Amino acid sequence: MRKPIIGANWKMYRGVPSEAEEILRELVPKVIDIKNVDIVIAPPYTSIIKTIELIKNTSIKVGAQNMYYEEKGAFTGEISPLFLKKIGCEYVILGHSERRNIFNETDELINKKVKKALEIDLTPIVCIGEHLDERENGKTKGVIEKQFEMTFDGLNQEDMIKLIIAYEPIWAIGTGKTATPEQAEEIHMFIRKIIEDKYNKDTAERVRIQYGGSIKPSNARELFSKANIDGGLVGGASLQAESLYQIIKSAENY
Ligand code: 13P
Repeated sequence: MRKPIIGANWKMYRGVPSEAEEILRELVPKVIDIKNVDIVIAPPYTSIIKTIELIKNTSIKVGAQNMYYEEKGAFTGEISPLFLKKIGCEYVILGHSERRNIFNETDELINKKVKKALEIDLTPIVCIGEHLDERENGKTKGVIEKQFEMTFDGLNQEDMIKLIIAYEPIWAIGTGKTATPEQAEEIHMFIRKIIEDKYNKDTAERVRIQYGGSIKPSNARELFSKANIDGGLVGGASLQAESLYQIIKSAENY
């Protein structure tokens, strides 16, 4: 059985420590007894340390939203994975569509980052997903397969089991347009099949695949009830403690 995992991707919001504190003071007591869902909060860099302080002695984990693939050096403006690890981050979101589309990150770059994160034991949450025109032109599976091959190039079975995949159809991100549970499940199954063909059935059964894209308290349960959907990566609805809590609760019994 795969344990569901809910990630809160705060994007470029809640970056002032007091703003992170406002949510977490409300959220932490609500979720403290939830044991069968993994919870990861991914704030902007500037509120990571505050978040780590506030989730101390709970099972909540903290993630970053990006990193570079070098540990140190003359890379002005970049963040070292080792710094993240040393301050207590355990996860890192990589290959988010906003990184790919706005900052031109390529599959090759993301592949280097994934390898580095695994090397230093930061768990990567790796995002893949298609654009609206690709879906409308029947290209979704081809796009996903290509992203998978390039992003995970060179990874072995142990690596695959450690990482988390987030299927985030780009047309569903921040648009209020959620993939239907059936649409999401179809692609999650497809991703699992790719893993089975490339590695084996056991690996495919063990990799956790989250859905992301306009998850709300009102649609979360139906999505998470699908056999191949192992929780979600939540943007907008993770910015309020109550809606994030409702979404986490929705993953509890799956
Ligand atoms: P929304 O939940 O705001 O659509 O964002 C999803 C997302 O990009 C999570 O990484």
